[in-house]
Amino acid sequence: MFAAYFDFPGGPENLYMKEVMKPNPGEGEVLVKVSASALNRADLLQRRGKYPPPKGASDILGLEAAGSVAGLGPGCSGRWRIGDAVMALLPGGGQAQFVTVPEGLLMPIPKDMTFIQAAAIPEAWLTAFQLLHFVGKVQEGETVLIHAGASGVGMAAIQLVRLAKAIPIVTAGTQEKLEATANAGAAAGFNYKNEDFSEKVLEFTQGSGVDIILDCVGASYWEKNLNCLSTDGRWIIYGLLSGGEVHGDLLTRLISKRASIHTSLLRSRDKEAS
Ligand SMILES: NC(=O)c1ccc[n+]([C@@H]2O[C@H](COP(=O)([O-])OP(=O)(O)OC[C@H]3O[C@@H](n4cnc5c(N)ncnc54)[C@H](OP(=O)(O)O)[C@@H]3O)[C@@H](O)[C@H]2O)c1
Repeated sequence: MFAAYFDFPGGPENLYMKEVMKPNPGEGEVLVKVSASALNRADLLQRRGKYPPPKGASDILGLEAAGSVAGLGPGCSGRWRIGDAVMALLPGGGQAQFVTVPEGLLMPIPKDMTFIQAAAIPEAWLTAFQLLHFVGKVQEGETVLIHAGASGVGMAAIQLVRLAKAIPIVTAGTQEKLEATANAGAAAGFNYKNEDFSEKVLEFTQGSGVDIILDCVGASYWEKNLNCLSTDGRWIIYGLLSGGEVHGDLLTRLISKRASIHTSLLRSRDKEAS
């Protein structure tokens, strides 16, 4: 089969189609013929050599895929049949003609959805769901600040915050992105490039700050995050787009608000973990 591949870390010019061995489904695994995969920020980081796949995972790019069941490994329970339309979150390997997936990780594609639409769901939406519910334990009426609001994860998070009857507000780098986030349900949005988002957030929350921050930016935002986090607030870090090295008295600022820092990484969860 063919797969999108690179031999050396770098730009997109390093990508090429490589003929590789078609995978065989092992015990309890399903072989999926891939119709569509998606491109996430994590793929770009991996291609640049900054986000290696976890031990034992495929080194082919692609954290999600949608397609049809093409084979069943020994011990499969009968849940899936040849030809079923499925989508899955993957530790890697989605940007190839075939991929194997543990049967419990497959999700059926709803009837009205195309393979292309389905392929864009698992990574962004499961990340956002995990951040909000498993980690952040979002409650009705809470205010959630979502950085990079127009990113894949950000757009999913806005809609999930609304579903939880909480209030999403965002930061983004352009007016067009702020408009897209407003259309998705953001109650307010701030352009971090030309205004101090922490002051704007404090204005919006009438001085109390936000209950939760979903942060994929990291270092460059730490001080502003603590300015606009509420007392007892939860700051959830799930990406480090601006780096991870922090200079300053973070711990004093954190304890003065009784705030907590949580981190989350979907890819390093094992197959059985919740
Ligand atoms: N922990 C996990 O389990 C997990 C899972 C999925 C994704 N992630 C992480 O989540 C982040 C978003 O992923 P995605 O695929 O949804 O991204 P995406 O759609 O590619 O969007 C990323 C956006 O982040 C903003 N950005 C980039 N660098 C920035 C910086 N230095 N400061 C502020 N904003 C910056 C940019 O928007 P603006 O123009 O608005 O600046 C960019 O468009 C990535 O860091 C990714 O690695 C983590």
